[in-house]
Amino acid sequence: MTAPVHSDALVFFGATGDLAYKKIFPSLQAMVKRGVLDVPVIGVARAGWNVDQLRARARDSLAKHGGVDDAAFAKLSVLLRYVDGDYADPATFGELRSQLADARHPAHYLAIPPVLFGSVVEQLAKANCTSGARVIVEKPFGHDLASARKLNAILLATFDESHIFRIDHYLGKRPVHNMLFFRFANSFLEPIWNRDHIESVQITMAESFGVQGRGKFYDETGTVRDVVQNHLYQVLCNLAMEPPVRTDSQTLRDEKVKVLKSIRTLAPADVVRGQFRGYLQEPGVEPDSRTETFAAVKLALDSWRWQGVPFYIRAGKNLPVTCTEVLARFRRPPAIFPACTAPCNHVRFRIGPEVQIALGATVMDASEKFAGQPIELLAAHHSTADEMDAYERVLGDAMAGDATIFAREDYVEEAWRIVDPVLAARTPVYPYEPGQWGPPQVEQLTPPGGWDDPAINESSTY
Ligand code: BG6
Repeated sequence: MTAPVHSDALVFFGATGDLAYKKIFPSLQAMVKRGVLDVPVIGVARAGWNVDQLRARARDSLAKHGGVDDAAFAKLSVLLRYVDGDYADPATFGELRSQLADARHPAHYLAIPPVLFGSVVEQLAKANCTSGARVIVEKPFGHDLASARKLNAILLATFDESHIFRIDHYLGKRPVHNMLFFRFANSFLEPIWNRDHIESVQITMAESFGVQGRGKFYDETGTVRDVVQNHLYQVLCNLAMEPPVRTDSQTLRDEKVKVLKSIRTLAPADVVRGQFRGYLQEPGVEPDSRTETFAAVKLALDSWRWQGVPFYIRAGKNLPVTCTEVLARFRRPPAIFPACTAPCNHVRFRIGPEVQIALGATVMDASEKFAGQPIELLAAHHSTADEMDAYERVLGDAMAGDATIFAREDYVEEAWRIVDPVLAARTPVYPYEPGQWGPPQVEQLTPPGGWDDPAINESSTY
């Protein structure tokens, strides 16, 4: 197989937007610094700006998110171009075509609302900007199964699947990658990583902040669409998939799709939704909104490895801490020591803010009464300054044509299939106080042994 060509220009729609400000400019500067970005970077937006304004915005973004590296920023400034105009206006795309000059394999990154994808892709095609090109699209990919299918049809009408890169930045995170590596690069875990030994798995993505000025987007989206159906399913797939027979992008993605196919479609009783008090007063939020800012979900996997092991996902805004973590609990050992009341063993993967892998075990208690004392064998990863940020990884991989960490057409459709009926059912939304672990009704969906609330700066000594 021949290696994919590297993109020879990066076009990003939504250049004056929030995502560009918070994530894209810092990633572009990091890519320049690493020496992997030396092609024109063309921002497109409808702000009435010129390229100097875009450069000023980029500098400001860097000052607030990670810092300006003068040498790298100077190089990035030279690469930056800007096209101003309406996405419905052919003149915008005519101008883009001329800015692309002789680039033959541009990557078009659509950091814009999905409702605009159709017209942008159509205009790109008409302006002769799509042949040999790639398209990179942001999550959430659609609003439900029907809209995801429609979006896929729009993109596939112009681009081959191998040229479509559906971003889920969670897959660009090193600890999410490492989860897969850790499972299959060690021999001790895999023999017990199944229904015979694991009692339940829980995934928590807690954020201690609210919607941070994204009220309108969030109100149209909600927690299930924002993070459960994409980021947390990706985490689940890495935890639950079978060993791939090869590590090429198709094989790895085949295995993930198999995991999703094994998940039963959710019923209303499998979901508890919550909304933090005060959400309705957020700018951009409808006064009578029933959008959830918290969701807990119980998933059943009908696979040989996992049948009967419940997987729980819990995510929300304005929770007590900011932390994303997985906890897999093992079944209890036989009761040789009757006094032993220690909890089940576990494996814990903390994805952020710190990166940790911990094995929960029981040792003899200090008083030697065989009551048992729970401890954790903990490995913590300390990030280095030159580590890749998730967005740097996803943009770099898309431009290099490596699709491994991107969601394939069948993956996004399966992911929607699982949640579609409960989204349509509009199950109750229970209020919760900011700083609580969701509404009290989450008790209805509690894993055996309870939810494990991540504590920050956990440490363990033995
Ligand atoms: C985004 C969501 O995709 O992921 C946000 O839209 C969420 O609501 C964010 O806060 C979390 O990403 P990270 O990388 O900060 O964990």
